[in-house]
Amino acid sequence: MASFSFFTLLILNPIKMNFNQKIRTTFLILSLGIFFGSCISNVEEELEEPPVDAKVSFKDAVKPIIDGRCISCHGAGGNSPELTSYATISANASSVKNEVASGRMPQGTTLTPAQIKTIVDWVDEGALDN
Ligand code: HEC
Repeated sequence: MASFSFFTLLILNPIKMNFNQKIRTTFLILSLGIFFGSCISNVEEELEEPPVDAKVSFKDAVKPIIDGRCISCHGAGGNSPELTSYATISANASSVKNEVASGRMPQGTTLTPAQIKTIVDWVDEGALDN
């Protein structure tokens, strides 16, 4: 920044201004430089954050909820639909989302808002095998 203001003074030198005006103009340009400079560094900080399109993981986030809260009634030979594997869960993705979002499932109890969001987001993202 010091070299920046030096250059500003250099450029302003031939322009007919008294010393005070030059200092003030330099200060103005310097402030603008800091302002736009900070905008640029904000953009860089945002780029360092985790990518916004990080998707909900089926095996790490969704499967543990289903195993813990649904399998007791929706295991093989239990209530329809069977929710034991990626294949059977993803085949029923939209009805799983509806039942969970409406609070109808798990029957007789509730999921936490975070668990509901995990399942809803996973379905909305295409029910990926991830
Ligand atoms: C206590 C037993 C029980 C638990 C736990 C349970 N369910 Fe169910 N579920 C049922 C029964 C019984 C039915 C069928 C009758 C009905 O629709 O009420 C059903 C039906 C469903 C259906 C089909 C709904 C329809 O009408 O198409 C879906 C989807 C479903 N459950 C998803 C889930 C999910 C996801 C979980 C875990 C978050 C879950 N269930 C937990 C007992 C349970």
